[in-house]
Amino acid sequence: MTTHSLEALRTRAAAIVRDNDRGAYTVPTKGLYPFQWNWDSCLTALGQRHSDERRAFLEIETLFAHQWPDGMVPHIVFHTPDDSYFPGPDVWRTGRPTPTSGITQPPVAGLVLRRLVETAADQAFAEEKARALLPKIAAWHRWFHAMRDPAGSGLVAILHPWESGRDNSIDWDDALARVPTEGVEPYVRRDTQHVDAAERPHKAEYDRYLWLVQRFRDLGWDNRLLHDASPFQVVDPAINAILVRSDEDVAHLAERFGDKALAEEAQARAARARAAFDGLWSADLRQYLPFDRVAGQLIASPSVGGLLPLLAGLGNAEKRAAMRDRIRTLRTHVRYGVPTHDPTDPRFEAKRYWRGPCWLIINYLLADGLDRCGFAADAAAVRADSLALVENGFAEYYDPLTGEGLGGGNFTWTAAILIETLATSAAA
Ligand code: GLC
Repeated sequence: MTTHSLEALRTRAAAIVRDNDRGAYTVPTKGLYPFQWNWDSCLTALGQRHSDERRAFLEIETLFAHQWPDGMVPHIVFHTPDDSYFPGPDVWRTGRPTPTSGITQPPVAGLVLRRLVETAADQAFAEEKARALLPKIAAWHRWFHAMRDPAGSGLVAILHPWESGRDNSIDWDDALARVPTEGVEPYVRRDTQHVDAAERPHKAEYDRYLWLVQRFRDLGWDNRLLHDASPFQVVDPAINAILVRSDEDVAHLAERFGDKALAEEAQARAARARAAFDGLWSADLRQYLPFDRVAGQLIASPSVGGLLPLLAGLGNAEKRAAMRDRIRTLRTHVRYGVPTHDPTDPRFEAKRYWRGPCWLIINYLLADGLDRCGFAADAAAVRADSLALVENGFAEYYDPLTGEGLGGGNFTWTAAILIETLATSAAA
């Protein structure tokens, strides 16, 4: 691509992020997602920092202003009423002053914060902001381990597929099939009014998503009760890898700010998780797998979730090379990488949301992990895939076979991550 067209892409991306900006938070896209989403906001800050560092910190501060007293950071903050999204506050009924959902999302805030601090032009400002955010992020990580790993295995479970951020991934199929559907209150989906139903989860999955929400609501959203009461408890390698990486980044910042106790605490959590990670490795599939805590077994689903542990440099050199090779192989089966599920698996669907399509934020995290593990050429190849994809617009996700943009359009984190990807590639 010429410098000129790269500049045009960057300008277009910045305009999308600005257009979805609601002042103190950014909506993922108009219509489909009219509120603040947890990991969308954190990853969006990575793009915002290139034009306005203050705005980037504000995005994260707004999210953490709605942290629960127990430490959880909710996956959605419903800042203003809007009935174009379902399930809204009337379904969640979490009783928070500003309504929020009652579950969480991948904890990328820690790794984003470190990047914001280390790249800030105004170091004094960034350090002041980071000092205030750091204890809140640490409280969230503490919450994860206390509430989502009550038996102390070292790894945390998600209790709802939406917590993974990869909503309808094949990873959750078997565990979700065990969730009942009796008693689900009648509802009308809104997502399929914005987007073709063929690109969204099926009704059978939606019923179960809602059954879980109702179950947790009946327990008064008391996180001390939810884990053991949930028929869905899955250890996702992706969320655990993100937590390890973020905890290590928290430790790094704490060290820098002279908070020895916090640095040691975060480091110890990460070390325990590292030690437990081996149990998720599949010698057959040559990658990590999710673990179904209720069934007591690994889930044979070759998705990108089991490759994200590169982000924290997990495993030994042999395992990291195996994950790199898996990414290479996945890329050979499609025109555009990286598909979120193995295209040779009969369950792969090129257009259905998290069951195959490419997502720019996943490419970003994979490229970051590849770089960290010393696979710079592979990281560059993944970034090149991202650049090729956005030529088809700033979509929510893309068909890996054709490159067609799918789901919501003018999507914030796709645009923000493109800005960050361009900056990272230029620096590399
Ligand atoms: C979908 C995605 C999730 C994202 C949200 C808002 O639910 O699966 O990862 O946070 O949309 O973009």
